[in-house]
Amino acid sequence: AVECWFADENMVLSLHLGNLGLQGAFPQGLQDCASMTGMGLSNNSFSGPNPPDFSRQVPYLTSLDLSYNSFSRSIPQNISNMTYLNLLNLQH
Ligand SMILES: *[C@@H]1O[C@H](CO)[C@@H](O)[C@H](O)[C@H]1NC(C)=O
Ligand SMILES: *[C@@H]1O[C@H](CO)[C@@H](O)[C@H](O)[C@H]1NC(C)=O
Ligand SMILES: *[C@@H]1O[C@H](CO)[C@@H](O)[C@H](O)[C@H]1NC(C)=O
Repeated sequence: AVECWFADENMVLSLHLGNLGLQGAFPQGLQDCASMTGMGLSNNSFSGPNPPDFSRQVPYLTSLDLSYNSFSRSIPQNISNMTYLNLLNLQH
C-alpha cells in the first residue's frame, strides 16, 4: 500500500510493501519520497550490500521495518542520525 499525505497530491506518507516476494537490490528513487514517515518492507527478498543512506534520503522516517530480508554487510551507522525514528525493526 502507498499512502499519500493528501489525496490530490503525490507526496508519499508511507509505503508498505511487506510479504510480496520482492527481490533484488534496494529500490532506487527513495529521495523522491523525502517526506515519507513510514516504510515497511518486511518479509521480502531484498538483498545486496547496502540499503541507501536513509538518514539523507528519507530523514523524517518515524518507522522503518526491514525485517526478514537478505541484506548483507553492516547496518548503516548513520541510521543513528535519524532524529524522528522511533521504530526500527531489523530482525532476521
Ligand atoms: C512472507 O511472505 C510470503 C509471501 O511472499 C507469505 O506466504 C508468508 O506467509 C509471509 N510470512 C510472514 C511471516 O508474514
Ligand atoms: C551518512 O553517512 C554518509 C556516508 O558516510 C554521509 O555522506 C551522510 O552525510 C551521512 N548522513 C547524515 C545525516 O549524517
Ligand atoms: C550524524 O550527524 C552529525 C551532524 O550532522 C555528523 O557529524 C555525524 O558524522 C553523523 N554521523 C553519522 C554516522 O553519519
